Amino acid sequence: MTAPRTFPADFLWGTATASYQIEGAATEGGRAPSIWDTFSHTPGKTLDGDTGDVAVDHYHRWQEDVQHLADLGVGAYRLSIAWPRVQPDGRGELNREGVEFYSNLVDALLEKGIKPVVTLYHWDLPQVLEDEGGWRNRETALLFGEYARAMARELGDRVHLWTTLNEPWCAAFLGYGNGQHAPGVTDDLASLEAAHHLNLAHGLAVSAIREELGADAPVSLTLNLHVFRPADPANPGDLESVRRMDAVGNRIFTGPVLDGAYPADLLADTAAITDWSFVLDGDLEAIHQPLTNLGLNYYDISVVAAPTGEPVGDFPTPWPGCRDVHYPERPGEKTSMGWGIDATGLTELLTGLSARYPDLPLMVTENGAAFDDEVSPDGAVHDPRRVAYYAQHVEAVGKALDAGADVRGYFAWSLLDNFEWSFGYARRFGIIRVDYDTFARTWKDSAHWYHELVTTGTPPALPYTHAG
Ligand code: FCB
Repeated sequence: MTAPRTFPADFLWGTATASYQIEGAATEGGRAPSIWDTFSHTPGKTLDGDTGDVAVDHYHRWQEDVQHLADLGVGAYRLSIAWPRVQPDGRGELNREGVEFYSNLVDALLEKGIKPVVTLYHWDLPQVLEDEGGWRNRETALLFGEYARAMARELGDRVHLWTTLNEPWCAAFLGYGNGQHAPGVTDDLASLEAAHHLNLAHGLAVSAIREELGADAPVSLTLNLHVFRPADPANPGDLESVRRMDAVGNRIFTGPVLDGAYPADLLADTAAITDWSFVLDGDLEAIHQPLTNLGLNYYDISVVAAPTGEPVGDFPTPWPGCRDVHYPERPGEKTSMGWGIDATGLTELLTGLSARYPDLPLMVTENGAAFDDEVSPDGAVHDPRRVAYYAQHVEAVGKALDAGADVRGYFAWSLLDNFEWSFGYARRFGIIRVDYDTFARTWKDSAHWYHELVTTGTPPALPYTHAG
């Protein structure tokens, strides 16, 4: 038997959440509606009509949740700020009650020795800004820069790491492409405009934060870069699908953010949709800012093939210029999201990026799995499949470190079961279970496993069951 792996002592272990998914208190404390309030209250948009009105009541239970973080022993907590809670009009005056909520939360984390990693945009755009065009409207990017500046002023150096955006791919292409997410728009041009304005928002926010806090203020961006694999690596059509998907799925963000330009093949692939004239002089310079690190959210690989001419499923795919790409059925275990499980993609993602951008440290800002948990008669939640998922993916991070990738941290998604966007409360990602009637929090085995990992730096052996 080989000795168990030990992670570096300064490796940052954390858990992640997002404001709309956990806070609730949608109309309290001066918070204005976000696009997710509007969307989730629109019939047919979320499973069972679920909304984030109450979510897991974190707004009222945050002290208890901070205590869970302290008990877990994590070094960091990744949270997001709800823009409409701190700046209800999307511009101008701040709502003091909203700012105070996050200020108190950050202070409580620091008191427990937990580093706050704060995302400024995890998809809850103020509805008033959507009424003016949302991310289709360039003005939203400028306003986002000012909102970032205001938050930097308020929370300043108490924040360990600022993250401008979470997964702009989802915001642009699920929000404005296939309409699966808020605001529910289905328009290829709008999704590409949104992608650019999100990139611009990111760049302006980085500059604003650094103007406020100094040139070396820690700022990052979290992307859900897709690991595409051709169904048949010897089939040129499959490889061409990978290229097209990689352009509009990944390089549309890494191009301007890390390399300073949109890739030529992306512009060619989407020429029938737009001439990209919404990219104005100076935008690429504004977007291309040095980053403290890059955050990556990883769940599964994507296997793609050449177009077959057959329909690609009942939901329109959100990929402009790639609607005909075929996704072959994949054998093997699936999570309750219907996603496959393949930890090799995480090693590949981290080593590939580190090789391409050797000066850019990486952090896994989300990774985890939804499974239908069962509560045992004694109240325990044994979730061996989630534990196995974490064990495989933590090992995949270890392998990336072995291969020389510069990975600085890992955040489990999620601290708590929560509102899983269009799937409502029907998908449980938490390492801590939430009873949706009482809001009681119960550690699953995965939380106990994670606690041992983060406090020792060594993943506990499997099979793992917490004795209670
Ligand atoms: C990511 C989101 C996060 C959560 C997980 C499952 O795309 O960033 O909010 O929903 O997926």
